[in-house]
Amino acid sequence: MTYSRIAGTGRYLPERIMTNADLEKMVDTSDEWIRTRTGVERRHVCAPDQTTSDMCVEAAKIAMAEAGVGPEDVDMVITGTTSPDLVFPNVSTIIQHKLGIPACTAFSLEAACTGFIYALTTADKFIKAGEAKCALVMGAECITKLVDWKDRNTCVLFGDGAGAVILKPSEEAGIISCALGADGQYKDLLYYPVGVSTNLAAAGTDDAAIMMTGNEVFKVAVKTLGAIAKEALDKAGVSKEELDWLVPHQANIRIIQAMAKRLNMPMEKVIVTVQDHGNTSAASVPMALDVGIRDGRVKKGELILMEAFGGGFTWGSVLMRL
Ligand code: ACO
Repeated sequence: MTYSRIAGTGRYLPERIMTNADLEKMVDTSDEWIRTRTGVERRHVCAPDQTTSDMCVEAAKIAMAEAGVGPEDVDMVITGTTSPDLVFPNVSTIIQHKLGIPACTAFSLEAACTGFIYALTTADKFIKAGEAKCALVMGAECITKLVDWKDRNTCVLFGDGAGAVILKPSEEAGIISCALGADGQYKDLLYYPVGVSTNLAAAGTDDAAIMMTGNEVFKVAVKTLGAIAKEALDKAGVSKEELDWLVPHQANIRIIQAMAKRLNMPMEKVIVTVQDHGNTSAASVPMALDVGIRDGRVKKGELILMEAFGGGFTWGSVLMRL
């Protein structure tokens, strides 16, 4: 059986760091409230002229170098994002061109914070079907460009960044199982009220801001993430005790702790970046994976469960050996 396996990872974070102290000067909040309710201490914010593709290119270069592949080797580019450069062409084609990757399959997909998990799952299927040999898979967001910096309910949560992986066929186990889900009945709990066919004129004005009923999102997230983690483990016939690492979506430290508890995993086995990155939506899981690998904690051959939950709601998990 051929698996798909991660051959290299990379991440990019914008230069500008916004601390909780900076936010205290902008809205009625406190470092104490933000840290205790969310776990966030600082977040990176992209420059006004910086785009999602700019960040992806930097993350991709590192992942490609790590995997030892050049632009000519890549035959598929997939980006999970809700903040693409343009409505069209899709952001993966822009990244492809900037990296000098020859003509290939290139598309983006939108699943809010679950975007990377959806993208990785899709690339895994192409590789297992023999239709791709070297996929560049990214999760990236300039989500702070959607944030209303006057709304304390949401502005303290988010940050920007990009994470990239190179996925290649392998005879050794890489991705073992994937589980995806979505339920549109929850749309009103978390959404951005502007799209091409809805309220386009409100984009970037005071009338458009991320709409979130945080405490309701919290409850559904914990319940659903528990179920989706179990689904990926059951599909593979793997017990939670066998897991070496949990690499969760970094929305809120309390959601991460609740997930770790459900999986009986001590926090030492969980990669946590929410304090430094905030919620970077689709970028959070690939960036956390890269952090864990680069600081030497996550090692080749170890069993990793990645999971995410976001607007839609969408959710997903991937079980893999590095
Ligand atoms: N500073 C100070 N007080 C605040 C702030 C702030 N930044 N934000 C809200 N508050 C206040 C509220 O106004 C409220 O005050 P009130 O009781 O006087 O009305 C109080 O704090 C409690 O508000 P809650 O919303 O109940 O606080 P909660 O403990 O639920 O924490 C949070 C809010 C952090 C948003 C939490 O609910 C959460 O993390 N939810 C999940 C978010 C998430 O996972 N999103 C999914 C991914 S995002 C995506 O897909 C794009």
